[in-house]
Amino acid sequence: MDRFLEKIRRLKKERNAVILAHNYQPGEIQDLADFCGDSLGLSIEASKTDADVIVFCGVRFMAETAAILSPDKIVLLPEKTAGCPMADMITAEQLRQLKAKFPGAIVICYVNSTAEVKAESDYCCTSSNAIAVVNSLTGDKKILFVPDRNLGAFVAERTGRDIELWPGYCTTHVCITEDDIRRAKQKYPDAVVMSHPECTEPVRKISDELLSTGQMLKFVRKRSAKRYIVATEKGIIHALKKENPDAEYIPATERAICPNMKKITIDKVIRALEELKERIVVDAETGARARKALDRMVEILPTD
Ligand code: 13P
Ligand code: SF4
Repeated sequence: MDRFLEKIRRLKKERNAVILAHNYQPGEIQDLADFCGDSLGLSIEASKTDADVIVFCGVRFMAETAAILSPDKIVLLPEKTAGCPMADMITAEQLRQLKAKFPGAIVICYVNSTAEVKAESDYCCTSSNAIAVVNSLTGDKKILFVPDRNLGAFVAERTGRDIELWPGYCTTHVCITEDDIRRAKQKYPDAVVMSHPECTEPVRKISDELLSTGQMLKFVRKRSAKRYIVATEKGIIHALKKENPDAEYIPATERAICPNMKKITIDKVIRALEELKERIVVDAETGARARKALDRMVEILPTD
């Protein structure tokens, strides 16, 4: 292991590279990263780094976002097939048709979307600033929220705004059921239930807190409960344990694993640095249009 880490350190120096990893990455990838975080934190980090190369340990839309925010950098995704099924649940053409049905509506796309969909949107958001983005909109114009119907419904509940939902969803978070939470609560009645807003409505309803992965980390720092039931992708538990090792973290279900996030390995990170592959490039015209929505996303910070 040390040999591989030494190799990565050397390659990083040669390439002037930085390694960014999402909180759902395998533990060993989180441990070797220069910065680990949620989608908003990683986007901000990618937009301000002075490295020449960004190795993005996550999924394609995250690397694409980094490439749009830092078009002069080399952005690498160590596994080219690491995609996000939710991001592919709406195309730019489908969004254009939706916009035609609701002229004058404001389009907010979740960052879990393609560059082409971002280019058709007015605002982009992550799960940590979705409420803040909606609250920044004055007036009462209708909002079209794509592609996640669960995050969109959560934002509609919290802001009271008129939001048209697109029927997209996260294939990993919908595996977490209300029964899973009830069972875990029965076994650990003192535990605080932290769920991601990508979870379904029945799960959201019986949760104590609805938080992005970054917000979960902040929450355990402040809350100091003994036990947490965690309803999101299991990779976050590695980060939670590092942050607050004295508490116990119970995954709502062992099924909550995102297979795409788990495609990144140490070998692939080394290969990415050696061969500068898979390079993620967004065409200049799409990138410039998507950038407007993304700049708004990184400017509007969550209030908590
Ligand atoms: P956050 O880390 O922003 O909460 O995102 C969750 C997610 O599903 C990313 O794919
Ligand atoms: Fe996409 Fe869900 Fe995996 Fe996140 S956890 S990358 S939303 S499939």
